[in-house]
Amino acid sequence: MLTQDELKTQVGQAALKYVVAGEIVGVGTGSTVNKFIDALAALRHQIKGAVSSSLASTERLQALGIKVFDANEVGELAVYIDGADEIDGSGCMIKGGGAALTREKIVAAQSRMFVCIADESKRVQTLGKFPLPVEVIPMATGRLIRQFTELGGVAKLRMKGELPWVTDNGQHILDVTGLQISEPLKFESMVSQWPGVVTVGVFAHQRAQVCLLGTAQGVITLNF
Ligand code: A5P
Repeated sequence: MLTQDELKTQVGQAALKYVVAGEIVGVGTGSTVNKFIDALAALRHQIKGAVSSSLASTERLQALGIKVFDANEVGELAVYIDGADEIDGSGCMIKGGGAALTREKIVAAQSRMFVCIADESKRVQTLGKFPLPVEVIPMATGRLIRQFTELGGVAKLRMKGELPWVTDNGQHILDVTGLQISEPLKFESMVSQWPGVVTVGVFAHQRAQVCLLGTAQGVITLNF
């Protein structure tokens, strides 16, 4: 029986086959992506470099000798590889458990293909069991908490000790429980328009085209 960590290693390595030689790869954030970054080190001389979705991934890439480009220095990317907190049967995801959702969505939007790497615990019928991360402008927090209450959810400000969590963009995170997101496209469009929302952690417009799912039987490829 493989551990969750071993499943993450397997999908991180399996994602290498989607990396295009001579190109720049989009790199996500999280413990599964860390396995991908470690595997990518072996290909560092075959790629130009990476565009990263967080300071943490940038540090890890650079420590392994992989050049990191600013998103504005480069054009469209062939592929973006990232993990997810949940993924449904259409490739729609909840992301942002690691608070990197805004930059993740930006790099995903700049890429032709999103390859999600995840262990099988992330696969769900309907999004919403995992608390939905929403990056918000701090002065809007109170009103946004009330708006999520009206939807039937419970929104809580993410904390780091006594203080609110601060993202790489200097903003705060709400984690929303109690939602059943059965229409992810509609939900993402609606919440994205609420004033003060920087990014909602539903990735439906930027959904995955492929998911490499780590299972006890090996890596399964889901195409959406
Ligand atoms: C980071 O903000 C997230 O979107 C991650 O992609 C997601 O939380 C998956 O992380 P793990 O691979 O650590 O589970």
